[in-house]
Amino acid sequence: MSVLKVIQMGHPTLKKIAEPISEFNADLKKFAKDMFDTMVIEEGIGLAAPQVNRSVRMIVIDMPLIDEELYAEPMAFVNPEIIKSEGTFFFEEGCLSVPEIREEIERFEQITVKYQDLDGNEHTIEADELLAVVFQHEIDHLNGILFVDKLSPMKRSLLQQKLAEIEANALA
Ligand code: CO
Repeated sequence: MSVLKVIQMGHPTLKKIAEPISEFNADLKKFAKDMFDTMVIEEGIGLAAPQVNRSVRMIVIDMPLIDEELYAEPMAFVNPEIIKSEGTFFFEEGCLSVPEIREEIERFEQITVKYQDLDGNEHTIEADELLAVVFQHEIDHLNGILFVDKLSPMKRSLLQQKLAEIEANALA
Protein backbone atom coordinates (compact mmCIF):
# COMPACT_ATOMS: atom_id res chain seq x y z
CA MET A 1 0.00 0.00 0.00
CA SER A 2 1.33 3.41 -0.94
CA VAL A 3 -0.01 6.65 0.36
CA LEU A 4 0.63 9.60 -1.94
CA LYS A 5 1.21 13.18 -0.92
CA VAL A 6 -1.84 15.41 -1.35
CA ILE A 7 -0.87 18.83 -2.69
CA GLN A 8 -2.61 21.99 -1.59
CA MET A 9 -4.10 25.09 -3.14
CA GLY A 10 -1.31 27.23 -4.51
CA HIS A 11 0.42 24.29 -6.20
CA PRO A 12 0.40 24.88 -9.99
CA THR A 13 -0.78 21.32 -10.85
CA LEU A 14 -4.17 22.11 -9.28
CA LYS A 15 -4.70 24.85 -11.87
CA LYS A 16 -3.99 22.72 -14.94
CA ILE A 17 -6.42 21.03 -17.31
CA ALA A 18 -5.58 17.35 -16.78
CA GLU A 19 -4.71 15.09 -19.73
CA PRO A 20 -7.06 12.31 -20.91
CA ILE A 21 -5.93 8.76 -20.10
CA SER A 22 -5.47 6.43 -23.07
CA GLU A 23 -3.42 3.55 -21.65
CA PHE A 24 -5.31 1.10 -19.49
CA ASN A 25 -2.46 -0.94 -18.07
CA ALA A 26 -1.14 -2.29 -14.78
CA ASP A 27 0.44 1.08 -13.93
CA LEU A 28 -2.99 2.73 -14.11
CA LYS A 29 -4.49 0.08 -11.80
CA LYS A 30 -1.64 0.53 -9.33
CA PHE A 31 -2.10 4.30 -9.43
CA ALA A 32 -5.86 3.94 -8.84
CA LYS A 33 -5.16 1.69 -5.84
CA ASP A 34 -2.64 4.19 -4.45
CA MET A 35 -5.11 7.04 -4.93
CA PHE A 36 -7.81 5.01 -3.21
CA ASP A 37 -5.52 4.19 -0.25
CA THR A 38 -4.53 7.85 -0.01
CA MET A 39 -8.15 8.98 0.04
CA VAL A 40 -9.04 6.53 2.80
CA ILE A 41 -6.04 7.50 4.95
CA GLU A 42 -6.75 11.21 4.45
CA GLU A 43 -10.43 10.58 5.24
CA GLY A 44 -11.76 11.98 1.98
CA ILE A 45 -14.78 10.64 0.11
CA GLY A 46 -13.34 11.62 -3.26
CA LEU A 47 -9.92 12.34 -4.72
CA ALA A 48 -8.77 13.52 -8.14
CA ALA A 49 -5.39 12.62 -9.68
CA PRO A 50 -4.20 16.27 -9.85
CA GLN A 51 -4.45 16.37 -6.03
CA VAL A 52 -1.59 13.87 -5.89
CA ASN A 53 0.31 15.90 -8.49
CA ARG A 54 -0.53 13.76 -11.52
CA SER A 55 -2.27 15.83 -14.17
CA VAL A 56 -4.43 13.04 -15.64
CA ARG A 57 -8.19 12.53 -15.81
CA MET A 58 -8.97 10.00 -13.11
CA ILE A 59 -10.96 10.30 -9.89
CA VAL A 60 -11.68 7.85 -7.09
CA ILE A 61 -14.74 7.85 -4.86
CA ASP A 62 -15.35 6.11 -1.54
CA MET A 63 -19.10 6.02 -1.19
CA PRO A 64 -21.75 3.35 -1.42
CA LEU A 65 -22.76 3.34 -5.08
CA ILE A 66 -25.85 1.90 -6.69
CA ASP A 67 -24.39 -1.33 -7.99
CA GLU A 68 -21.74 -2.71 -5.67
CA GLU A 69 -20.66 -5.41 -8.10
CA LEU A 70 -20.11 -3.03 -10.97
CA TYR A 71 -18.36 -0.48 -8.77
CA ALA A 72 -15.95 -2.76 -6.96
CA GLU A 73 -13.03 -1.24 -5.07
CA PRO A 74 -11.13 0.81 -5.97
CA MET A 75 -13.96 2.83 -7.41
CA ALA A 76 -12.01 4.64 -10.08
CA PHE A 77 -13.56 6.69 -12.86
CA VAL A 78 -11.32 7.41 -15.84
CA ASN A 79 -11.96 10.33 -18.23
CA PRO A 80 -15.25 11.17 -16.45
CA GLU A 81 -17.55 13.64 -18.13
CA ILE A 82 -20.95 15.02 -17.15
CA ILE A 83 -23.26 14.41 -20.09
CA LYS A 84 -26.58 15.40 -18.51
CA SER A 85 -27.56 17.61 -15.59
CA GLU A 86 -30.76 18.74 -13.97
CA GLY A 87 -31.75 21.17 -11.21
CA THR A 88 -29.47 22.94 -8.77
CA PHE A 89 -29.01 22.96 -5.01
CA PHE A 90 -26.51 24.16 -2.43
CA PHE A 91 -24.27 21.74 -0.58
CA GLU A 92 -21.50 22.32 1.98
CA GLU A 93 -18.16 21.15 0.63
CA GLY A 94 -14.60 20.78 1.78
CA CYS A 95 -11.46 19.61 0.01
CA LEU A 96 -8.26 17.82 1.06
CA SER A 97 -6.35 20.43 -0.97
CA VAL A 98 -8.04 23.36 0.81
CA PRO A 99 -7.78 22.38 4.49
CA GLU A 100 -10.11 23.68 7.18
CA ILE A 101 -12.48 25.48 4.84
CA ARG A 102 -16.06 24.38 4.31
CA GLU A 103 -18.49 26.41 2.24
CA GLU A 104 -21.82 25.97 0.52
CA ILE A 105 -21.49 25.64 -3.24
CA GLU A 106 -24.21 25.56 -5.88
CA ARG A 107 -24.24 22.27 -7.80
CA PHE A 108 -26.45 20.33 -10.19
CA GLU A 109 -28.93 18.15 -8.32
CA GLN A 110 -28.88 15.19 -10.70
CA ILE A 111 -26.24 14.28 -13.21
CA THR A 112 -25.31 11.54 -15.63
CA VAL A 113 -21.60 10.82 -15.88
CA LYS A 114 -19.91 8.99 -18.72
CA TYR A 115 -16.56 7.41 -17.83
CA GLN A 116 -14.22 4.50 -18.47
CA ASP A 117 -13.27 1.83 -15.97
CA LEU A 118 -9.68 0.70 -15.37
CA ASP A 119 -9.88 -1.64 -18.36
CA GLY A 120 -11.05 1.13 -20.68
CA ASN A 121 -14.68 -0.01 -20.92
CA GLU A 122 -17.21 2.80 -21.18
CA HIS A 123 -20.07 3.19 -18.71
CA THR A 124 -22.56 5.78 -17.58
CA ILE A 125 -23.75 6.32 -14.02
CA GLU A 126 -26.55 8.49 -12.68
CA ALA A 127 -25.94 10.36 -9.45
CA ASP A 128 -27.88 12.66 -7.17
CA GLU A 129 -27.44 14.30 -3.75
CA LEU A 130 -24.00 13.79 -2.14
CA LEU A 131 -22.73 11.50 -4.89
CA ALA A 132 -23.60 14.09 -7.54
CA VAL A 133 -21.71 16.72 -5.54
CA VAL A 134 -18.64 14.48 -5.20
CA PHE A 135 -18.55 13.80 -8.95
CA GLN A 136 -18.88 17.50 -9.78
CA HIS A 137 -16.25 18.51 -7.22
CA GLU A 138 -13.75 15.89 -8.43
CA ILE A 139 -14.37 16.51 -12.14
CA ASP A 140 -13.78 20.23 -11.47
CA HIS A 141 -10.31 19.26 -10.18
CA LEU A 142 -9.60 17.73 -13.61
CA ASN A 143 -10.36 21.13 -15.12
CA GLY A 144 -8.17 23.12 -12.74
CA ILE A 145 -11.10 24.34 -10.63
CA LEU A 146 -11.28 24.28 -6.81
CA PHE A 147 -14.57 24.60 -4.93
CA VAL A 148 -13.48 27.95 -3.49
CA ASP A 149 -13.18 29.25 -7.08
CA LYS A 150 -16.97 28.96 -7.27
CA LEU A 151 -17.66 31.22 -4.28
CA SER A 152 -19.17 34.66 -4.77
CA PRO A 153 -16.59 37.50 -4.77
CA MET A 154 -18.04 38.59 -1.42
CA LYS A 155 -17.56 35.22 0.29
CA ARG A 156 -14.21 34.75 -1.37
CA SER A 157 -12.96 38.07 -0.01
CA LEU A 158 -14.01 37.06 3.51
CA LEU A 159 -11.81 33.97 3.16
CA GLN A 160 -8.96 35.76 1.47
CA GLN A 161 -6.53 35.65 4.36
CA LYS A 162 -7.09 31.95 5.10
CA LEU A 163 -6.71 31.09 1.41
CA ALA A 164 -3.52 33.15 1.16
CA GLU A 165 -2.09 31.21 4.13
CA ILE A 166 -2.89 27.87 2.48
CA GLU A 167 -1.26 29.05 -0.76
CA ALA A 168 1.83 30.27 1.09
CA ASN A 169 2.17 26.86 2.82
CA ALA A 170 1.71 24.98 -0.47
CA LEU A 171 4.65 26.81 -2.00
CA ALA A 172 6.88 26.72 1.08
CO1 CO B 1 -11.22 18.60 -3.69
